[in-house]
Amino acid sequence: MTNKKITIIDGQSNNETELPVLDSILGPNVVDIRALEKNLGYLSHDPGFMATSSCESKITFIDGNEGKLWYRGYPIEELAEKSNFIETAYLLLNDKLPNNKELDNFSNDISNNFNVDPSVKKIIEVFDKGSHPMAVMTACLSFLSAKYHDDINIQNKGYRYQSTVKLISSVPVMSAWILNFILGVKFQEPNKHLSIAENFINMAFPNINEEQKKLSSNAMDVIFLLHADHEQNASTSTVRLSGSSETSPYAAIAAGIQTLWGPTHGGANEAVINMLEEIKNSDKDVEHYINMAKDKENSFRLMGFGHRIYKNYDPRAKIIQKIAHEYLDKLDENNPNKPLFDIAMKLEKYALEDDYFVSRKLYPNVDFYSGIVLKAIGVPQSMYTVIFALARTVGWVAHWNEMIEDKNFRIGRPRQLYTGKDKTNYTELKDR
Ligand code: SDX
Repeated sequence: MTNKKITIIDGQSNNETELPVLDSILGPNVVDIRALEKNLGYLSHDPGFMATSSCESKITFIDGNEGKLWYRGYPIEELAEKSNFIETAYLLLNDKLPNNKELDNFSNDISNNFNVDPSVKKIIEVFDKGSHPMAVMTACLSFLSAKYHDDINIQNKGYRYQSTVKLISSVPVMSAWILNFILGVKFQEPNKHLSIAENFINMAFPNINEEQKKLSSNAMDVIFLLHADHEQNASTSTVRLSGSSETSPYAAIAAGIQTLWGPTHGGANEAVINMLEEIKNSDKDVEHYINMAKDKENSFRLMGFGHRIYKNYDPRAKIIQKIAHEYLDKLDENNPNKPLFDIAMKLEKYALEDDYFVSRKLYPNVDFYSGIVLKAIGVPQSMYTVIFALARTVGWVAHWNEMIEDKNFRIGRPRQLYTGKDKTNYTELKDR
């Protein structure tokens, strides 16, 4: 830790204070402003947390300008090529790649928890078939938060590990059951001899042939790996803030699910396909939609483009683009997905050449292509964000554990800039 400091001088009172600078191993250093209110009477103000570090973390590093994404220091491109979801989950949780024994033990702990309480099926069946699966998943997690409520022991490492493996293994099984329910097929049972991705595909699409199962499982495993974590995004920050009150981890993950659901966050993969479908069925061409996205008066945005951090290509988009191409190159001309991908390619070409997007550094993000691959696999659009949540559960529990193990762990409680009324006396109803 260096003793770098910055000095802030209050132009009103000429008072000044020194604030410590904390060094990042990579990325911008941070100014520790905790003494600002005590020393100068000011709070910092940063709506949307555009320039605020909310915590110290060792899990994921993103360099938005360079388009870098590293899990525990390992570049996502290498992990996507050489690793798999379960090994990457171990890495995110333990800050090291597992040896054979560690990987076997962790894989067994996960698959031994595929046996989710069958009462969850009754929770799923309470919903209409048209209910959004993210609402159904939240209810399933609430059921688990009630089932395991008496065991809560946040400060106990063993309790946290058990909750971690239960969450990582339950969400994929419940996701597959929700998909069975949506497609109106019998609930399938998990197979503890399969990986998370293989088991999900096997439960979700029991009637496809072995070759299709293998192709889809491999693609799904990469999609899970790429979506596993992404630093302090909105849903991860929600899980941290929710978990900081020492609530049940199942409840904190349910809060993360609800945040991820939004169309500007995890819901974008579903919104991308809805947008492509709209363009395909419209009598307007791609250029018309590009112009709508550029029109400040129009709320239409190009789903799957732009990112708060990436001002370069989202490295995940490049990896998924390759899988999307592999999938769709196999499609024959009259496959319903072909026109969608052709439209997607036209949008991408426009966005990469048009000054509006280039000047704002609005590149395709992970959601732009993941929706296309999931559609090619046959996943219903309403399930795309559940797939995202399934994978992100790993990152959420990794951050939850890191937060609780932090020596500065305390409940999060942001402040505000109050611009409401000064003290006001009550007026009787008869006098209003
Ligand atoms: C994810 O945070 C994470 O890490 C998230 C995520 C993860 O893994 O957890 O990466 C997953 O959420 C990816 C993002 C998925 N969302 C979408 O694809 C929805 C479409 N994108 C936009 O809603 C938007 O780009 C955001 C929400 C992603 C980012 O919004 P910001 O950072 O608040 O950007 P901004 O609104 O400040 O935009 C800057 C400018 C504005 O124009 P000007 O005011 O400068 O004239 O760019 C424009 C915006 O209007 N703009 C877009 C646009 N995105 C931004 N214009 C058209 N289409 C878009 N998609």
